[in-house]
Amino acid sequence: MNPFNVYNLFNVTPVSAHGCTIKDDKGQEFLDMYAGNAVMNIGHSHPKYIQAVTDQLQQLTYCSNMVKNPLQDQLALRLGKMTGYDDYSLFLCNSGAEAVENALKLASFHTGRQRVIAFKRGYHGRTSGAGAVTDNPSISSLFNRVHKVIFLDINDTATLKKELETQKVAAVIIEPIQGTGGVHTPQPEFMQTLELVCRQTETMLIMDEIQTGFGRTGKFFAHQWLNIHPDLICIGKPMANGLPCAGVMIAPHFEAVKGRLGTTLAGNYVTMAAALSVLDVLEKDNLMANAKAMGDFLKEHIPASPRIKEVRGKGLMIGIEFRELVAPIRQKLLYDKHIITGSAGMNVIRLLPPLCITQQECYTFINALKAVL
Ligand SMILES: Cc1ncc(COP(=O)(O)O)c(C=O)c1O
Repeated sequence: MNPFNVYNLFNVTPVSAHGCTIKDDKGQEFLDMYAGNAVMNIGHSHPKYIQAVTDQLQQLTYCSNMVKNPLQDQLALRLGKMTGYDDYSLFLCNSGAEAVENALKLASFHTGRQRVIAFKRGYHGRTSGAGAVTDNPSISSLFNRVHKVIFLDINDTATLKKELETQKVAAVIIEPIQGTGGVHTPQPEFMQTLELVCRQTETMLIMDEIQTGFGRTGKFFAHQWLNIHPDLICIGKPMANGLPCAGVMIAPHFEAVKGRLGTTLAGNYVTMAAALSVLDVLEKDNLMANAKAMGDFLKEHIPASPRIKEVRGKGLMIGIEFRELVAPIRQKLLYDKHIITGSAGMNVIRLLPPLCITQQECYTFINALKAVL
């Protein structure tokens, strides 16, 4: 048997990693400007993370969600304190798509409504409901399309109001910065109106912070730059720095009904120890401030070039839009300069480095990009 062949693979085989450096099986070093798609926020192999995970592994890995697990309580408490959402509850699951599924389901249960509004260029995952609210027909099966979803243009307040005023919409789901769709940020006024109209029409606002969360933009959540408060916040990717861990942060007005949500593996002791150490490191190593500072530095120093149309994003979530296909540029960066980057569509290089990146490493990227261009 072979792995199901659904990924485009680069010809690199990593065997170890430290901070922002990845080493391959030939002993070559690569600068990680992608963090495995915004996952490795505290960097690779942080000593506190390794210690926490190995200590926990030696003690207890799993017992089921039928018994008390104080690490889950600690994580919820700590996350509530760090984000300012102390009065929310935390439902744990294993992947971003699963967090989105559960948030959609909660919104539908709570409102007794079925329809959902999502946005063009939005990405929320590939499972049933998550795939349905993702604007990409090429990954949407007939099965995904049975859900009642309407896609609107971001910043189109008039249509949004018209739809929500029908009072038939269970939820609006939105990324505070669209990542996979090309690093596009909705206008702040649009987001603020969205929150207001959701309140007025009793529509649940689901904020997908799976890529933007855990300090990437310089605040814990990207929506916190806007002073808005969603009803449901989806979290995932960097939560346990590479171990499968995701969740939904749930406002107090949702009723927790036994048995409605649940999963076997989520919240296990090892991922909880990992997630707690991620919060520790984010705070103690001051990584959110570093994300903002290094993000500003990168944006300032990315070379001006007639080949570049726009540089956008916030903190360490940066899109460099080219007037040409980026695949050859990314290949040169990878194979000639040993720098791993991401992309969004055909024309955007997406930078999502670990939040511990140094100014020296930013220079390495900038000089490499200059040379390649
Ligand atoms: C904004 C957003 N939502 C949801 C997901 C889905 O997460 P996962 O791949 O863990 O299912 C992603 C993954 O890229 C994402 O970027």
